[in-house]
Amino acid sequence: MNTEKAILEQAKADVESKGFLDIDLDPTLDLFAAIERLKKEKNAVLLAHYYQEPDIQDVANYIGDSLGLAQQAEKTNADMIVFAGVHFMAETAKILNPSKKVVIPDLKAGCSLSDSCPPALFKKFKEQHPDHKVVSYINCSAGIKALSDVICTSSNAKFIVESFPKDQPLIFAPDKNLGAYINKVTGRNMVLWNGACMVHEIFSLEKITKLKVRHPEAKLIAHPECEEPILRIADYIGSTTGLLKYTQTDSAQEYIVATETGILHQMMKASPEKTFIPAPPNNSCACNDCPHMKLNTLEKLYLCMEYETPEIIMEEELRLAAKKPIDRMLEISKAAGL
Ligand code: 13P
Ligand code: SF4
Repeated sequence: MNTEKAILEQAKADVESKGFLDIDLDPTLDLFAAIERLKKEKNAVLLAHYYQEPDIQDVANYIGDSLGLAQQAEKTNADMIVFAGVHFMAETAKILNPSKKVVIPDLKAGCSLSDSCPPALFKKFKEQHPDHKVVSYINCSAGIKALSDVICTSSNAKFIVESFPKDQPLIFAPDKNLGAYINKVTGRNMVLWNGACMVHEIFSLEKITKLKVRHPEAKLIAHPECEEPILRIADYIGSTTGLLKYTQTDSAQEYIVATETGILHQMMKASPEKTFIPAPPNNSCACNDCPHMKLNTLEKLYLCMEYETPEIIMEEELRLAAKKPIDRMLEISKAAGL
């Protein structure tokens, strides 16, 4: 078998068994330069979420929150979308722009929140509330999107929920923490699916309170996926983009950041004179890294661009059903100037 064919066969077997290409790379290869070359050669756009490792953020064409990434994926003219994020994000890109090849460094980069809401169970839950409309957080599978009336992200959830008349009963899935927060700010009483993000659920109120005593000038900024006791004491609550912008415009010099640590890279780049302290979790581990997001590495990124796999493939019927509520979200967001 010639080498090229053997490599492609190994690539296929790797993706099937491991979810990513496990090909040994020449350790002297300059991955940054190689990724830049592939972007040009393949007319590829590299979209990365803020929770990706700093090296990946540094080679991306666009870094953003879930709404920004979906908007970029929808409008790109590139031939290939390389999605450095988790599966539901790359799947959303494919749903919105199906003529593009969408690749992801590791197909097994999932999401605990998305996994907490299996479509078959959610369908039954929905049947128990026949008069309710469904608002689903974008952190869910295409199967859940297809069962939803509209999708939202952490940056537009308030606008999306308020687009329904006040007396319209709503289900909010899958994140109970974001749902409870939106109930509070909108005065609604949405029925909540009992899902949560493993990263945002582990912050320790006790340790954060002690940290605030040691850093009295520091502001606590939190993602709305955090639990209510953390949100209650936060100085600012927002999506990853919202948190980043807040640290750029606010006058404080120190912040305790209650979200995944990847965002600190952009915060430190934008405001090198300020101090950013990751909020401590309630376990002995010092890190609040998302194990799913951090499955992606620069090596896997390079390999997925070079061999154009793992690729997101979807059934057309499911794609069209999942697209409707995402399109609705994008329309409402545009009208709201987001
Ligand atoms: P945003 O970047 O949209 O705030 O979402 C955070 C998150 O947890 C993504 O998985
Ligand atoms: Fe999912 Fe939480 Fe990881 Fe985001 S940070 S991908 S919500 S597990």
